[in-house]
Amino acid sequence: MVSRRLRITGVSRSAPVVPAVILALALTACDGGVHGTPGGSGVHDPYFPKAGNGGYDVSHYDLKLAYDPAGGHRLTGTATITARATQDLSAFDLDLKGLDVDEVTVEGRRARWNRAGQELTVRPRGDLDDDETFSVTVRYSGTPQTITDPDGSHEGWLRTDDGALALGEPTGSMAWFPGNDHPSDKASYDIAVTVPKGLQAVSNGELTGETNGKNRTTFTWHSAEPMASYVATVAIGHYDISRSTIGKDRLPVYVAVDPAQAKASRKVLAKIPEIIEWEEYNFGPYPFSSTGAIVDRGHDAEYALETQTRPVFPGAPDTGTLVHELSHQWYGDSVTPKTWRDMWLNEAFGTYAEWLWDEDHGGHTAQQTFDALYDHGEDDHEDLWAFPPAKPSNAAHISDDPVYQRGAMVLHKIRQTVGDDTFYDIIQGWAAAYRHRNADTDDFTAYVEKKAPGKDFDEIWKDWLYGDGKPKHR
Ligand code: TRP
Ligand code: ZN
Repeated sequence: MVSRRLRITGVSRSAPVVPAVILALALTACDGGVHGTPGGSGVHDPYFPKAGNGGYDVSHYDLKLAYDPAGGHRLTGTATITARATQDLSAFDLDLKGLDVDEVTVEGRRARWNRAGQELTVRPRGDLDDDETFSVTVRYSGTPQTITDPDGSHEGWLRTDDGALALGEPTGSMAWFPGNDHPSDKASYDIAVTVPKGLQAVSNGELTGETNGKNRTTFTWHSAEPMASYVATVAIGHYDISRSTIGKDRLPVYVAVDPAQAKASRKVLAKIPEIIEWEEYNFGPYPFSSTGAIVDRGHDAEYALETQTRPVFPGAPDTGTLVHELSHQWYGDSVTPKTWRDMWLNEAFGTYAEWLWDEDHGGHTAQQTFDALYDHGEDDHEDLWAFPPAKPSNAAHISDDPVYQRGAMVLHKIRQTVGDDTFYDIIQGWAAAYRHRNADTDDFTAYVEKKAPGKDFDEIWKDWLYGDGKPKHR
């Protein structure tokens, strides 16, 4: 079953709802000599054309949120976004789905705004100049929504028995904060969450403060390294918290577990240090200032997600899933896809990390896993050969088996071609070269070719990465 994305039209208090495109035309038409033009409602992502926005680049999100699970599940937020204009701007969009906008200011001055679907179009008092750094503050409130993805899975704001869980892949962050909701625009974050006393709020990065008011507690979290909006998270509820460090660099570990999941999770979560050290050995230095995990059962959360520094699991994970989500810290969170078409770069590595873990821990070798998939993979993965990893058929299929299993098979084909030494050089070098940046499939194939001069990858790219159907030769 495939559920299509909801289209929600917000009601603006300060302006009638005008589709962004008409507003854009109107603004351009009556500009009369003023240089700026609207930034645009998307970044032309091949799978999610309205995700993200044109004309600016965010460097920092400062989010101040308050949530009361008992009091009507209401979220109150103030988002202050620091960005740089990449063109002369008369207006720009933020992505925001649902919720009510109360006020928008740009550089401290009230701005006009209107809403159409997921686009919040902001028109500052004066134009913004190309290359100008500006700040935009949005005050908003309301009951945040759960979004149904094109593939029928749920994301955005998910309620739990005692709180909530925010999950963002691919376009769920717009359900709880306004921003440039596309992986191509990474930024640092400060996230402060105020909750009723007795509850906890966990997010990405490091806990920098916990302050108690009379009835409420505010938790402040800091992510210094660039983060894509889809891996930002907040988890609110009761948790068993454990804090520790890994290795001689004392990498901080912060693990939050729903008490109902604590017993089932204890043994597997104790493997986090061992997994991080094994991944550092294979993938290179851990790319962030802290790590950990969140185990919580959201009512609609049926999957794990590699939320930055602190992956989320919808219940006690198995070791393979823990290895997978932690490997995404290198491949996905630090090296982030330029568009959703490049998602196989995340999931091929996540899946191949599981194969390598098995190989190094007395399980099947990656070659055996590859062979089994080639010979009868379609028994377990019905759609394994439905489309090539680098060209999912449409947005409903970006998380299907060809992206994961067949993507991992592409990495294994590279390993077969170059041998183990060069292969590990490639996967470590790739994580180092694109650390905290974005990359696409062309960047990857070019990188592999550069690291293995004289080797021929044409057939791998043609048959395994881009080719339709099951490749004729293994
Ligand atoms: N990225 C998740 C993983 O670790 C899976 C996932 C969750 C996902 N939500 C998604 C993939 C939405 C695509 C779209 O495998
Ligand atoms: Zn994954």
